[in-house]
Amino acid sequence: MIVVDDLHKHFGGFHAVDGASLTIQEGSITGLIGPNGAGKTTLFNVIAGVLPPTSGKVTMAGEDITGLPPHTLFSKGLLRTFQIAHEFSSMTLRENLMMVPGNQSGEKLWNTWFGRKRIADEERALAAKADEVLEFLTIDHISDERAGNISGGQKKLLELGRTMMVDAKIVFLDEVGAGVNRTLLNTIGDAIIRLNKERGYTFVVIEHDMDFIGRLCDPVICMAEGRVLAEGTLDEIKANEHVIEAYLGTGLKNKVANA
Ligand SMILES: Nc1ncnc2c1ncn2[C@@H]1O[C@H](COP(=O)(O)OP(=O)(O)OP(=O)(O)O)[C@@H](O)[C@H]1O
Ligand SMILES: [Mg+2]
Repeated sequence: MIVVDDLHKHFGGFHAVDGASLTIQEGSITGLIGPNGAGKTTLFNVIAGVLPPTSGKVTMAGEDITGLPPHTLFSKGLLRTFQIAHEFSSMTLRENLMMVPGNQSGEKLWNTWFGRKRIADEERALAAKADEVLEFLTIDHISDERAGNISGGQKKLLELGRTMMVDAKIVFLDEVGAGVNRTLLNTIGDAIIRLNKERGYTFVVIEHDMDFIGRLCDPVICMAEGRVLAEGTLDEIKANEHVIEAYLGTGLKNKVANA
C-alpha cells in the first residue's frame, strides 16, 4: 500500500532519515520500533507530508505522494494522529469529533444563505456519527466532557476517534501508548484491532512498549540511525543480531531482550 524508497531527511549535516526503504502491506498493523533518535518520528512526518524529504520517494497504491501536503494526503485517506490542540480543549469530545470532516456545507457562504435545512441535517448526521465513534471507543459516557478535562489515555482514544470521522485507509500512530495506563492501553489496542479487522484500516504504529507491539503488530520493522535494520515478527526481530546491537548501550537493550 505504501512504498518508501531510499528516503532521506537531513537537518543541516545531520541525517535523521538516511536511506530508509520499506513497504507497508495493505490490511496490516505494522510496528515501527528502534532506539531513541532512530528517525521513526521523522520518517512518519515525511510520509505524512509534515516535513519535505531531502530525497527519495513515497508511493501510495502506486501513486507518487512524495512531499504532498497533509490535507491532500488526508483526503486520500492517509492520516497521522496529532495531539488535541490547545484551542480544542474547551470543546466537548463530541464537538471535537464533529470538527474533523472538511468540506461541510456550513463552511460555504452560499449555503449559509440558501441551505439552512441542509446544514441542520448535516450537523445532525455528524453528531450521530460522532456518538457512534465515541461508543465504539468506549468513551461515550464522557461525550459532553470538555477535552481539556479528560485523562491522557482518553485523549489518545479521542485522537484515534478523529481518524474514524473520515474514511481513513492508513493511519500512522506515534507512541499512542506513551504515559497511558495499562487498562486504557488495552482499550486503545482493542480499538486498533477492531478498526483493522472490521473497517479494513491499515496501521503503522511507533511504540516503545514491546508488549503492545507484540500483541498488535505483524510485521515489525526496526530502524536505527535513519535506516531499516530488520523486518519480521517481533520474535524474529528480537533475535536479530543487528537489532540487538543497535539497542546496546541505549538502556533499551533489556526491554527488547526481556519482552
Ligand atoms: N527538526 C529537527 N532539527 C534537527 N534535528 C532533528 C529535528 N527533528 C529530529 N531531529 C533529530 O533527528 C534524529 C531522529 O529523531 P526522531 O525524532 O525521528 O527519532 P525517533 O526515532 O522518533 O526517536 P524517539 O524514539 O526518541 O521518539 C534525532 O537525533 C533528532 O534529534
Ligand atoms: Mg519519536
